[in-house]
Amino acid sequence: MSNIIIMGSQWGDEGKGKVVDLLGGEVGLVVRFQGGNNAGHTVVVGGEQFILHLMPSGILHPRARCCIGNGVVLDPEVFCREADTLEAKGVAAGPGRIVISKKTHVIMPYHKVIDAAREEYKSKGEKIGTTGRGIGPCYEDKMARVGIRAGDFTNPELLKAKIEAALVEKNALFTGLYGRDPLSAEDVFAWIEPYAARLAPYLGDVSSEMQRAMENEENILFEGAQGTHLDIDHGTYPYVTSSNCVAGNASAGAGIKPGAFDRIIAIVKAYTTRVGAGPFPTELSDAAGEHLQSVGSEFGATTGRKRRCGWLDICVLRESARLNGPTEIALTKLDVLTGVGEIKICTAYEYNGERIDYPPQEQNGMAYVTPVYETMPGWTEDITQCTSWVSLPGEAKDYVKRIERLTGVPVSIVSVGPDRAQTLVRK
Ligand code: IMP
Repeated sequence: MSNIIIMGSQWGDEGKGKVVDLLGGEVGLVVRFQGGNNAGHTVVVGGEQFILHLMPSGILHPRARCCIGNGVVLDPEVFCREADTLEAKGVAAGPGRIVISKKTHVIMPYHKVIDAAREEYKSKGEKIGTTGRGIGPCYEDKMARVGIRAGDFTNPELLKAKIEAALVEKNALFTGLYGRDPLSAEDVFAWIEPYAARLAPYLGDVSSEMQRAMENEENILFEGAQGTHLDIDHGTYPYVTSSNCVAGNASAGAGIKPGAFDRIIAIVKAYTTRVGAGPFPTELSDAAGEHLQSVGSEFGATTGRKRRCGWLDICVLRESARLNGPTEIALTKLDVLTGVGEIKICTAYEYNGERIDYPPQEQNGMAYVTPVYETMPGWTEDITQCTSWVSLPGEAKDYVKRIERLTGVPVSIVSVGPDRAQTLVRK
């Protein structure tokens, strides 16, 4: 039996969905533990593309059951839409298959209004470039202890009272600061009522669900969203998301003891991307950056925004390794580097006249570092059909080995294309 955490090492969009899907056939339970539908996991199975925002990617394996943990923020409308889409494609997504923790916080319409209004209100340099899905405001309510939880779906009186109480403060903000119309508690309640009725059968105790799975010797896969450098504490604050994306949160965000994990797989894209604002030391604005963006189809799966692209940054990965303790790396999108010419790897930063190996801790320190690069030869051969280590060109192998050496973490999986089959697993 082995319990595996899949987490992002960079700024999200590393290809976690594909790796979760790849391992999903071996697990009984797939659990999401943080984030919400700000995520966008693209999975291609048999040539058919699925983009999942809230559903665990493991849903595409018929035998895996899925859980939405307490650390997730759940938009009921998005959940129902994804369940309908999956069902229409023949993928079971009913209450027998998915359990939503009663402790999961619910994204309400006013959270989305605040997300949008706040971004609009900020001056240009201050904008975070959120996904606009109400993620941050929902987590704020959780911390302020006024949030609505999925368990409230079965208690209409409590639901109504919480909505009324929340709107006193939110409406003062909408009308007093943001110049928006107030929301009516009746309208919000009328909106949530049908979703509450539909989602009630999905509610359960995720922690006990996992306990049972372990007793039955089933593997559990913990599906992280976003990435370590978008983590609310450890990321490039304030240009981060509002949850802990590091592996440690799999425990608190799902409800399982810290000693329960056997493997932690760090997902690393073979180069770096970032969506939204915030420092990005190795960002490229030249032909190589254009190559990565276009060949890698680097558009945000949630918002469709062009992703910013740059060289691989080992300082970022070193910190991820220190924070998450990965047992291995799954390296994704190696094929995108084909034909880019010489490849650069950032191995250190110059910062305030010093050479450092890790991101600086000061707010926005990352905006003031100068990357120190080493250069490696690239390759031109098409590697999208390489499914064994020996079939990779020597330069590609050297690049992978260099990453292992610089991070101190073995690369166990290499992905060379979007399809499940375009993957090589190293012994
Ligand atoms: P929020 O999570 O919508 O509040 O957005 C905060 C920041 O995190 C923005 O820069 C987003 O672009 C970024 N972000 C949130 N989710 C993802 C993701 O799944 N992949 C990449 N970036 C993300």
